[in-house]
This record gives sequence, C-alpha cells and structure tokens, in this order.
Amino acid sequence: MSTDAIVLLRDDHKAIRKLFRRFEAAGDGATETKNGLAKQIIEALTVHTYIENECMYPEVRTLLPALEDDILESYEEHHVADVLVFELSGMSADAERFDAKMTVLIENVEHHMDEEEQDWFPKVRDGLGRKQLQDVGARMLDLKKKAPRSPKQPSALKKAVDAVVA
Ligand SMILES: [Fe+2]
Ligand SMILES: [Fe+2]
Repeated sequence: MSTDAIVLLRDDHKAIRKLFRRFEAAGDGATETKNGLAKQIIEALTVHTYIENECMYPEVRTLLPALEDDILESYEEHHVADVLVFELSGMSADAERFDAKMTVLIENVEHHMDEEEQDWFPKVRDGLGRKQLQDVGARMLDLKKKAPRSPKQPSALKKAVDAVVA
C-alpha cells in the first residue's frame, strides 16, 4: 500500500471538504444534524492538524529549508483555525454565533487547503523523493492512531498553548 504523504493529506482534505458541504446543506433549523456534523468536523480537523504540525511540517522544514516561510504561514493558519475549533467544540448549533463561526472556519480552512494543494504540495513533491514521501506518510499514519480527537484533550491543548507562546 502506498503511504505517500501528499496522497494521504489530500485524502484527508477531501473528507474534510465533504463534511463542510454536508454542513452547508443542512437546513437552518437542523440543530441535531449540525451538532453531529460539527463533531465530525472538529475531530477531522484536530487529527489532520496534529499530523501536519507534528510530522509533515517539521520534516519538510528540515529537508527543504527553502520552504520555511510557507511552513511558518501554515502554522499561523492552523492556529487561527484551532481557536475557532476550540470555541465551536463548546457550543451547540442553536447558539446565536454558531453558524457564523462555522462559516468563518470553513472559509479559512478551504483557503488553507487550496494553498497547500495548489502551491505547497507541488513544491514538496519536487523537492523530496518518492521514498522520503513514503516514509513521512508512514509516520503520519502511525501518528494518526495516537492523535487527539478533541481539542480539549491534553495533547491538543498543549499544542494550542505552544502556538501562543512560541
Ligand atoms: Fe495544513
Ligand atoms: Fe492540510
């Protein structure tokens, strides 16, 4: 089985986009449906951010120092999304600001994923060999098993604090 890091992250993005579309298609009053989808969105983003922050970004930063600026920008984009994800995790879909917060989250994450896919992944693929991408992918698959699934788990909270004080 291929464990190519970029294929893996693209698959994650695809699943996240699907959840976003389902959320957008849910009606205004569909509180239960939206609560359920929000839970899945929060989990998917928490896991995806974890494997990128813990593995993909630091690995690429070491192997391809020329991409440092892109990676620093990505950390900041993740950080903004983390704040919204954390707030949404404590809200119900019938709260006044829930839809607005989710809309801003979706817009921000779509922008970030587009940038990764259109600009960053091609640069990474050019710079790294097949074998390196497979190794990084295998490590991310492994990390996925122990990744936090909620932003309130200690390992996720610690990352959020590090992002503020680093
Ligand atoms: Fe990212
Ligand atoms: Fe990503």
